[in-house]
Amino acid sequence: MTDAPFDSGRWCWLNVSIMRLSTSSSLALGIATVATALAVSTVLVSRTAAQKPAVDAEALYKKHCIICHGATGASPLPNAAFADGTWVHGSTVKEVSAVIKDGVKGTVMQPFAAKLTPAEIEALAKHVRAFDKKLK
Ligand code: HEC
Repeated sequence: MTDAPFDSGRWCWLNVSIMRLSTSSSLALGIATVATALAVSTVLVSRTAAQKPAVDAEALYKKHCIICHGATGASPLPNAAFADGTWVHGSTVKEVSAVIKDGVKGTVMQPFAAKLTPAEIEALAKHVRAFDKKLK
């Protein structure tokens, strides 16, 4: 009982200083964690904002095209079906974009150059190409 294995006075001091040390370091760690979390979330938020497609092709299609080309791209109008695999004016993104931009003279396919931005036209070209399962 009497022969304590260590000097209790020193033990106590040691303990207090360890506690002080750990309190201050965990506080610092806490601040660092919060700061890191903030930085990471800021980066994440700005990245998702940047990666979010600026153009909603599906909404544009519904607004401007669905009336003639149909919800599944299987239009009954001549040359207007996308799902049948026949692309009268070419099937590349460039060719399809050109049709949307300039229209097809002498048909009801109007030019959309004045109504849509180049980015919207390209997004719509990709959207209508997707109706044709054979295209990549
Ligand atoms: C008023 C009806 C109408 C609307 C609205 C319309 N189109 Fe068309 N579109 C047609 C017709 C009809 C054709 C076929 C033209 C032809 O005979 O070459 C066509 C052709 C096309 C073609 C060429 C297809 C091929 O086989 O090469 C594309 C691409 C196209 N339209 C995309 C669109 C997009 C995208 C929109 C909406 C921004 C749109 N069209 C709006 C009627 C329409």
